[in-house]
Amino acid sequence: YSVCTRHREGFNLGVCNNGQCFLSYVMKENGASDLIITPATTFKEKPDPSGLVFGTVFTDNMLTIEWSLASGWEKPYIKPLENLSLHPASSSLHYAVELFEGMKAYRGVDGKIRLFRPTLNMDRMVRSARRAALPCFDQNELLECIRKLVEVEKEWVPYSAAASLYIRPTLIGTEPSLGVKKPTKALLYVILSPVGPYFASGSFNPISLWADPKYVRAWKGGTGDCKLGGNYGSSIYAQQEALELGCQQVLWLYGEDHQITEVGTMNLFLYWINEDGENELATPPLDGIILPGVTRQSILDLACDWGEFKVSERYITMSDLTAALEKNRVKEMFGAGTACIVCPISKILYKGKHLHIPTMENGPQLATRFLNKLSDIQVRCFLFFNQIK
Ligand SMILES: Cc1ncc(COP(=O)(O)O)c(C=O)c1O
Repeated sequence: YSVCTRHREGFNLGVCNNGQCFLSYVMKENGASDLIITPATTFKEKPDPSGLVFGTVFTDNMLTIEWSLASGWEKPYIKPLENLSLHPASSSLHYAVELFEGMKAYRGVDGKIRLFRPTLNMDRMVRSARRAALPCFDQNELLECIRKLVEVEKEWVPYSAAASLYIRPTLIGTEPSLGVKKPTKALLYVILSPVGPYFASGSFNPISLWADPKYVRAWKGGTGDCKLGGNYGSSIYAQQEALELGCQQVLWLYGEDHQITEVGTMNLFLYWINEDGENELATPPLDGIILPGVTRQSILDLACDWGEFKVSERYITMSDLTAALEKNRVKEMFGAGTACIVCPISKILYKGKHLHIPTMENGPQLATRFLNKLSDIQVRCFLFFNQIK
């Protein structure tokens, strides 16, 4: 395991074991040092990562930590993956008192296993827990437990630069009561799933989007900036309609002026010549309806570090986009997320018209540069900023 180079936001943090990050065991109750490990003794066959369907194969073990208002957090366990036993009145099943995270462990070309900026996922998970009225926890403690789980399952981290081990931390309300209230019981668990390359062909496959304001993913005062299960379950219907209309994903719009917010389950970036004639990389601001993606933040950090063009967190409406398309000011449009890193956009169906986005004609130079740079950090062991040794 690599050593943390930047304490809180370490890009090359990986899963740090130099002690520094985990010295402050401030958890009032049990922590990672109390972890009880009783791993599986029978092992599943490891699949060929190139043939994997996302999220369908799971490793041999899982992490579980129970919580109750009466006793706080119990000791964490790493034990064989098994079905959960829940009371049928559990609040997660009735009122979606549930949240999750999505992150990956990568096997670097040096053979070491690393996570990518996992503290950002832990911070986001705590924010989600607060918003879902689920119990908060010490991020460093959970990260250390996850590090140990990945260590137990290290042979499941694919020996391939194109594949990785997806980590799914989950926190659910297990209160056995039909009352709509803050749960007094909860379960935090983490499962792992090997995932193959996002672009099976090895090169970018641009996607087409359906943009229609009749469905809204998130709204001001809602929960769109948190990773709550309810946000995702309720988006499936619109995704289905997009597929029926021949588009692959939904471009989520918001407000009377049809602001562009996110694409499917990715943040959105537009690289264009803006209204003032400047080269600009733009993404919507974190105003409560956008999920603060780790990839989004990393792209902004890289672009700011390069300092080659304007980088903005700003509103972009569909009329801004159509006006720019008419004047040939759009260079690239892409989604960004842990699953694919970057995903080029080639078409948008809006108000019955197919808008062609010239992302592929323009390389896509910038999207490819982000993809390569982030892959360099994740599997080729580059540090994020050159100046940090
Ligand atoms: C709605 C939404 N936006 C953006 C993202 C991208 O976030 P990240 O880069 O942390 O994977 C996700 C991914 O989980 C998401 O669900």
